[in-house]
Amino acid sequence: VSDAPNPALIERFFAPCPRGLEPIVAQECADCGASDLKEIPGGVLFAADWAAAKRINLESRSASRVLWQAASGPARTEQQVYELALALPWDTWFSVNNTIRVATTGLNATVRSLDFVSLRIKDAVCDRFREVMDARPSVNTQRPDIRIQCVLTDRDCTLYLDMSGEALFKRGWREAGEAPLRENLAAGILKLAGWTPGTPLFDPMCGSGTFLIEAAQMAAGVPPGALHGFAFEKFLHRDASRPVIEKREPVPTVFAGSDIDGELVATARTNAWNAGLAEDAIRFDVKDARDVEPPCEAPGIVLMNPPYEERIGFSYTRDATEFFDAFAATMKRRFKGWTLYVLTTDMQLQSKMRLKPERRVVLFNGPLECRLYRFDLR
Ligand SMILES: C[S@@+](CC[C@H](N)C(=O)[O-])C[C@H]1O[C@@H](n2cnc3c(N)ncnc32)[C@H](O)[C@@H]1O
Repeated sequence: VSDAPNPALIERFFAPCPRGLEPIVAQECADCGASDLKEIPGGVLFAADWAAAKRINLESRSASRVLWQAASGPARTEQQVYELALALPWDTWFSVNNTIRVATTGLNATVRSLDFVSLRIKDAVCDRFREVMDARPSVNTQRPDIRIQCVLTDRDCTLYLDMSGEALFKRGWREAGEAPLRENLAAGILKLAGWTPGTPLFDPMCGSGTFLIEAAQMAAGVPPGALHGFAFEKFLHRDASRPVIEKREPVPTVFAGSDIDGELVATARTNAWNAGLAEDAIRFDVKDARDVEPPCEAPGIVLMNPPYEERIGFSYTRDATEFFDAFAATMKRRFKGWTLYVLTTDMQLQSKMRLKPERRVVLFNGPLECRLYRFDLR
């Protein structure tokens, strides 16, 4: 008897993610047992059995969703898409009592309206249900039980059933800060920075604490999906049980964060608590970033995202040069041996800090093009 996965049970999936994190998501999928991984801009295509796909929903920190490929075939026009969708046994996949929403993404698609394609797919799903049971699911555009995603090119149509439901970055612990970073982007950045449990982590502009909470969960062995309800729990055609959370040994790690805004620091504390972390897992302080000190002797990683002009609208260009000059001086004087990572939309940040970056990575925070700069503090 072989332990190799049964090829008959291997199915195709797509895991969308923030642009720039594709290699991180591919690794996370591989770690859960996925194979045949293909990175495309904005996500990873892969093959896996159902159990592995469920585990990716629970364990992936950087994927936004996991989509199960229900069908794929040649279709270019609205009518061809309708026919492709009508032939599928939707009624065996989810209950007529579930609400649905259909969305369509076009890649060189030649149709006039992607919304109209979505509408035709919704018609096909409802027509299929009516044929079988004389009833149809209703549409809920806000909080649907079942999300159907269509990807249409100039030749083919692929229909996906979303396994995740709510986006995976909605971990369930957040009270939003002013410009919080999406949790999956924060986690991906930690991995891009090469942070691993055990390495001290400090965020001198921690806001609602996203970097620190994601990292502290990793060190504590809490999976990102621990509080997340998944759409696959409503599916009828596959095992709908939640994957078992494996017990992991916590790795002792120094976590500290500060922010100039005391209310945000209070929010960060609440968030850490909601995320299932011990009260003393992360040390939070109210402080100006120019006055910070290292939280421990052993050097580690400083990771931060300063305010974005586009996001919080403070007069960035006028004050920023002075601010970052002083901040960099504090870093150089007090944080010798640490590695500083800054996520920013400001392409002039390095000259404001008068530091030479060792590395820069291009990332997207939603539509905002960002750089992750690495500075070695010697
Ligand atoms: C883009 S937000 C960081 C968001 C954070 N990563 C999160 O997940 O919520 C920038 C943060 O910098 C803080 N900030 C602005 N000026 C500061 C200063 N001089 N010292 C410390 N923090 C400052 C703001 O209060 C804000 O929380």
